Amino acid sequence: MSVSAALILAAGKGTRMKSSLVKVLHELAGRPMLGWPLAAAREAGADQIVVVAGHQADQVQECFSADTHIRIALQEEQLGTGHAVSCSLSQLDGLTGSVLILCGDTPLLTGATLQRLTDEHTAAGAAVTVLTAKLDRPFGYGRIVRDSEGRVRRIVEQKDASPEEQAIDEVNSGIYCMDLNFLRAHIGRLGSENAQNEYYLTDLVGIAVAEHAGCSAVVADDSDEIMGVNDRVQLAHAARILRKRINLQLMLSGVTLVDPDQTYVDAGVRVGSDTVIWPGCVLRGNTTIGSGCELESNVQVTDCTIADRVHLKVGSVLSEAQVSEDVSIGPMAHLRPGSVLQAHVKIGNFVETKKVVMGVGSKASHLTYLGDAEVGKEVNIGCGTITCNYDGKRKHKTVIGDGVFVGSDVQLVAPVTVGANSLIAAGTTVTRDVPPDSLAIARTPQVNKDGWCLKKSENA
Ligand code: UD1
Ligand code: CA
Repeated sequence: MSVSAALILAAGKGTRMKSSLVKVLHELAGRPMLGWPLAAAREAGADQIVVVAGHQADQVQECFSADTHIRIALQEEQLGTGHAVSCSLSQLDGLTGSVLILCGDTPLLTGATLQRLTDEHTAAGAAVTVLTAKLDRPFGYGRIVRDSEGRVRRIVEQKDASPEEQAIDEVNSGIYCMDLNFLRAHIGRLGSENAQNEYYLTDLVGIAVAEHAGCSAVVADDSDEIMGVNDRVQLAHAARILRKRINLQLMLSGVTLVDPDQTYVDAGVRVGSDTVIWPGCVLRGNTTIGSGCELESNVQVTDCTIADRVHLKVGSVLSEAQVSEDVSIGPMAHLRPGSVLQAHVKIGNFVETKKVVMGVGSKASHLTYLGDAEVGKEVNIGCGTITCNYDGKRKHKTVIGDGVFVGSDVQLVAPVTVGANSLIAAGTTVTRDVPPDSLAIARTPQVNKDGWCLKKSENA
């Protein structure tokens, strides 16, 4: 039997982050911290999720507002983990069966481990099943107290533990599977007579044992999974582990990472097989990269769709762009939002594009700015071409027809249209529309003054 709901405790501020942003909204591998246990809960079958928020509850709510299966329960004062759960139970009214209880600051927890937890919970017919781990340095965690037969008896917090209890190396992860009816029946019995004057959720373990309601435990195979993030050192450590997992999956699916330790891929980014990624690349957000692509070093791609066999050369930056097959970009090109490149387009070094559609086979090989433009097929844009799209108040459009040849150092003062198969002479400032099949030339005629330089030096 699988669970249908999860509670995620995330009301704490996270003081040790030394941040104006609440801890659970700090990002790891492209997801807010809270998004990781949330995804794990989903993987284990929980489709109704209640997040207990307190500090910056509005921001937490805002961050997950697009997802209608996530509800927020407000815990205005943080009086302990038991109190946090009691603040949220009303959100699960009418639901029976079991619920996962997670912490918002354990981003390394996997769906597979939660599945093991719920399987054990069901197999044991327990009221409470706790996920534990064996740690070399258990200090700070609650300890799992077992009897001589190895059965879990209770959990004791660090601050309340006797020296013998402090020697126990099995710790409470703060992650549980609990029977909802048991929770509802007993949560009101928690007291706060302890070293921290808090309502401890962990006391439910002792209550389950006393009530003979059934209590079980699962030891995590990998103790990293229960690691809580409290400061920026742990944030970086956890992010590195998450990236490792993402990169491992990419490599197993046929992507070559020249140096996986220096490849930064957000959760959810898709990359096709036989794509080669050099060190220093950063792939972010809602990005898809096709098959057989090459991403040279230090390429940054955010929210882009890139088709097959695209070559992104050193140092290029792309955001919200759509790139078709067999396109070549860079080195050091900048594709800004709304750049749409059709097949076989070539964008060379120091070229910037924004809100541009470039037709099949067109080229802008060097030092060019193309903004608010429609460029047809097989167009050549010469070195140093600029679309002058902004008059200080508004943006205007440049339209360049199929087969146009734009010479070097041309300014196109928008709004302006160049008809198909025309030629714009080098150095021309285009201020009027150019009809198809025409030559446009606008240069100050050249004057040569014979011997001018000789005379000047005689006078000197
Ligand atoms: C808790 C456990 C401890 C376990 C440890 C694992 C209790 C009493 N102790 O201790 O056995 O080893 O987690 O990390 O449960 N939270 C709220 N509201 C509150 C208090 C906490 O939402 O009033 C949230 C926090 O934001 C956090 C989680 O619950 O996400 C755990 O709280 P924390 O204060 O870190 O618990 P610990 O004292 O570390
Ligand atoms: Ca803690």
